[in-house]
Amino acid sequence: MFAENQAIPLFPTFVWMHRLTPEDTTRINHTIRTKLLSLLTPGADKLENFRHQTEQNLHTLNEFQEFNQVLMTAAKGVIDFMQVAEEGIEITSCWANINTKGGVTQPHTHPNNYLGGVYYVDTPENSGSITFEDPRAQPKLISPRVHKSTGENSGYTILNVEPGMLLLFPAWLVHSVKPNPSNQLRISVSFNLMFSAFTEKVSPVQWQGNVPTT
Ligand SMILES: [Fe+2]
Repeated sequence: MFAENQAIPLFPTFVWMHRLTPEDTTRINHTIRTKLLSLLTPGADKLENFRHQTEQNLHTLNEFQEFNQVLMTAAKGVIDFMQVAEEGIEITSCWANINTKGGVTQPHTHPNNYLGGVYYVDTPENSGSITFEDPRAQPKLISPRVHKSTGENSGYTILNVEPGMLLLFPAWLVHSVKPNPSNQLRISVSFNLMFSAFTEKVSPVQWQGNVPTT
């Protein structure tokens, strides 16, 4: 019969996952959490809406400079992995998502950026996941019943996440977040990275934040 069997992945889509050390997670998350809660108006205990986003300039704040270094180190790893020749890449925006119970993020992309990403500060029980959608249209034409839903046979992949986890992914990759079922705040920090030359000479980023919640 067969001398060899392989399932050869074609056109793979990557999400690059990094997990900070426990020490770095504790220190960085404390710094971020403290700063974010100080930015909230009204205070965290008086939040009435399900979902809150900060301004998109967190990367310009002093408290985020160590976080910036983490992002840039991870981004340079992706640039190397993808064999990209352009080295000038920069953080174009960085904002926090603070969700009370019921807070969701609808499917969206981050136009005019090369990479998008998210870092997790607090993920209360059963709130730690992000859903990515298969960007290809053709596989959806035939969907046979399956014994088990997997990333290979379904149109989406759900990744479980936890504090200290950093994800980078192509900015065109559609992603969303399920409702926070917890009474605790779910806090994450999202960001974009783009080639500096493109942002300066071709077109500024089109990501404006505040994606619809319904
Ligand atoms: Fe996003």
